[in-house]
Amino acid sequence: MPTRDDAYRLMTEHVKNLNLQRHMLAVEAAMRFYARTYGEDEELWGITGLLHDCDYEEYPDLQEHTRVLAGWLREAGYDERIIYAILAHNDLNAETHPRSDLLSKALYACDEITGLVTATALVRPNKSILGLEVSSVRKKMKTKGFAAGVNREDIVRGAADLGVDLDEHIANVITAMSGIADELGLAGTTPSNGATASSSPETSEAHQAARSE
Ligand SMILES: [Fe+2]
Repeated sequence: MPTRDDAYRLMTEHVKNLNLQRHMLAVEAAMRFYARTYGEDEELWGITGLLHDCDYEEYPDLQEHTRVLAGWLREAGYDERIIYAILAHNDLNAETHPRSDLLSKALYACDEITGLVTATALVRPNKSILGLEVSSVRKKMKTKGFAAGVNREDIVRGAADLGVDLDEHIANVITAMSGIADELGLAGTTPSNGATASSSPETSEAHQAARSE
């Protein structure tokens, strides 16, 4: 079974867009949080998050997205549970890969919400996730047109299927992402990262929008 370092290499080989890389790092952090919460295998869950959109840049067509990646991962000897959860996070695979296991439910629940949390952090004056309140994310969630590509129904459904109260889920994801705020470009505005940070929501939205259709 490949290690987290192998997974990171695979991801950065196939994903050049920094915002998509950060999206996967954010989902990895959230997945690690939930693995610890549920007493599951943190490496396995983290790697699932880290790799889940690995083929998206090269294969954005939803008919191909995740199916191409499944081939790569099988070839490289990844655990079938990772491959199943990744396939299950694409709704087009619902018949063959229903989200019936905890890993698949967690991945689905952590995917869209990280986009909304990121977008909410980036419109704060300090562009930081540190100290971000759940209520701010909920407010932005209700604002039509804000991070419009983030599917609100998927967020609600994801938390419900995982069996976590939505406010608690948002708080968990904020906590998890705050732990790697620097890597996510969400540690606050500095002259060197300000420009990068402000370009995040658009790409994230484009990705989310394409995924959600
Ligand atoms: Fe994703």
